[in-house]
Amino acid sequence: MARSPEPVDYGEYLQLPKLLSSQAPKSVAAGAPAHDEMLFIVVHQTYELWFKQVLHELGSVMDLFRHDSVDERSVGVAVHRLERVAEIQKVLLDQLRVLETMTPLDFLEFRDLLVPASGFQSVQFRLLENRLGLRRGLRAPLERSPAPAKVPEAMRQDLVASEAEPSLFDLVERWLERTPFLELPGFAFWEQYAGAVKRMLDADRATISSNPTLSPTDREAQLRELQRTAESFAGVLDEAVHEKLRASGERRLSHRATRAALFIHLYRDQPILHLPFRLLRTLVDVDELLSAWRYRHALMVHRMIGTKIGTGGSAGHNYLLATVERNKVFLDLFNLSTFLISRSELPVLPTEIERRLGFHFPRE
Ligand code: HEM
Repeated sequence: MARSPEPVDYGEYLQLPKLLSSQAPKSVAAGAPAHDEMLFIVVHQTYELWFKQVLHELGSVMDLFRHDSVDERSVGVAVHRLERVAEIQKVLLDQLRVLETMTPLDFLEFRDLLVPASGFQSVQFRLLENRLGLRRGLRAPLERSPAPAKVPEAMRQDLVASEAEPSLFDLVERWLERTPFLELPGFAFWEQYAGAVKRMLDADRATISSNPTLSPTDREAQLRELQRTAESFAGVLDEAVHEKLRASGERRLSHRATRAALFIHLYRDQPILHLPFRLLRTLVDVDELLSAWRYRHALMVHRMIGTKIGTGGSAGHNYLLATVERNKVFLDLFNLSTFLISRSELPVLPTEIERRLGFHFPRE
């Protein structure tokens, strides 16, 4: 391994003089130091550093998926890096507790000095949302802030590029669409799956109809719910139905990608599908942890400022709460569980196909 030509100094390497002189409380400048403003700054800076690391990991995962064929080893690397992102997100969630040691009254000592700055102006957070693939209409534009954020030119260009380039969602969708397992010569998988679904729904209908503990109203409600589930299945089985759901915004992934993701979930015990399954599961983890952060942040904002509007001009707590459900990126992967059938009902794969999905080495 190469060595540095000069002895490395800890503080110089980490650029600590720059880092540690980057906290400038406004309350000190205003001549009325507020003790907790230092905590407020340090926590936000720590977040931005972690956002930087998360963007670094996401960028590298996206590079791996940009190719027309993704090497199996790359899927392993992607899973590893996305798992790291998820671990960082857990730290990000916990960090809010540190900030919550500041009381609302302590915050009021310096809050007005910060107007109109706000989390709305966090370019890295917008980049993160864009790169993951949050739908365009759902992203709060930087201009939403009453004062345009002062963004360094290179970062602004990154942001513009992230709007135009394929997101992680797009790349994963293309990768799913390319999976070779959907055409299984000589094996009518989807017909058999449809049969299993019908048997399962018929059994559920019979259970509801014969349940003596249900009142007629409850029975009717449960049968209506079952009918909705049946309609959801229709989307997987029939591409035209799926396209309608896509047009109305209820589905986002293409029909082919949805089927591939479902196949991976159903047959995840097959050796060749282990890594693809872990990848899909980790994407759901990352999305779930981001939603959890949005919710925790909204709760913290509620206890800090009640129902006041934010320094960035939004409705504050209520605006943030609305983003929790609305801003899920991989919603289709969450919804896949609706289409799972029990292992005992799974169509049995022909031996030749099972062999192809396993790792078979001829004996010497
Ligand atoms: C006392 C603590 C905090 C309060 C009272 C607070 C308040 C708010 C409010 C009210 C908003 C909505 C925009 C607005 O009108 O200003 C917001 C957005 C945001 N905040 Fe915070 N925040 C706090 C801490 C944090 C921390 C530690 C972070 C970490 C980076 C953060 C990141 C963000 C981000 C990224 C947004 C934009 C969210 C979106 O548009 O979906 N906030 N914050």
